[in-house]
Amino acid sequence: MLAIEPTGAVLGATVTGVDLAQPLGERDFARVLQALGRYGVLRFPDQHLDLAALKRFSERFGDIQGNPIRDPDGTREYPEIDILSNLKEGGQYIGSPDAGQDWHTDMTYREVPGFVNVLYGIRIPHRDGKPLGGTEFSNMHMAYDALSADIKTRLAGMTATHNFAKFWENMRQNHASSRPPMTDEQRRRRPPVVHPIFLTHPITGKTVLYCNPGYAVRINELPPRDSDEMLEYLFAHQLQMQFRYTNVWSENDLLLWDHLGTIHRAIADYRPEEIRLIRRCQVMATKVFDPEFLRPVRELAGAAA
Ligand SMILES: [Fe+2]
Repeated sequence: MLAIEPTGAVLGATVTGVDLAQPLGERDFARVLQALGRYGVLRFPDQHLDLAALKRFSERFGDIQGNPIRDPDGTREYPEIDILSNLKEGGQYIGSPDAGQDWHTDMTYREVPGFVNVLYGIRIPHRDGKPLGGTEFSNMHMAYDALSADIKTRLAGMTATHNFAKFWENMRQNHASSRPPMTDEQRRRRPPVVHPIFLTHPITGKTVLYCNPGYAVRINELPPRDSDEMLEYLFAHQLQMQFRYTNVWSENDLLLWDHLGTIHRAIADYRPEEIRLIRRCQVMATKVFDPEFLRPVRELAGAAA
């Protein structure tokens, strides 16, 4: 039977008693969604999934982000499943070797942003018996709650502009990334978008701070200087250690996290010869704001009340 055990830290729970290679029943899926809102990061240990099963599980949460860059010749059977890896074949990286190494929230640079990430650990680097390449999170329910009443009032109803180019250029300039500069065509395909700076989380019904250092460039309703100062304040605020939690990986872990209530980064503490290989589906928020999608979660909550 499906069991959910919170880590006791500010985020995270471990989910056991479920085989994700099989379709989840509606009630178990509702329990997973409810736990996702509440704990932000769910670890399902000891899963054995082929690509079809990984895709099937991910699609329950929404549409998987499509990206033609990943499949330029249209030959991959599962182009929506990414590879995060520093593994090389024939001198070429087989996937993204430096994805997500600064704090961010996936896809806030899109009109329809990310809802969940689904990552499946295939090879996890170890040194002296200790796993490396952890994923670190910060809790945006707590970050909102801890803002002063003054800032909550001042920023209520305001919006931020998010721009994909910010993260890309940061990786090039500060992380010696081998990414080439963004082309004009890439910039045209990724115009800046606007999201509210505070969001009512669709699962928990509580307010979260929906802003991240990776992509947020401007608070639109403030003059530029005030916007810069406020963003600097919010970025420092949301990264306080008291909100943070690190997931330590094991092989065959399936990790599911909620983008709306967290921000995250990949910890690059492993060397080129220490191989990390993770499969990923980025799932967009195409379903989670639909009340019908969350009806089973409300029924669960109602039954427990
Ligand atoms: Fe990410």
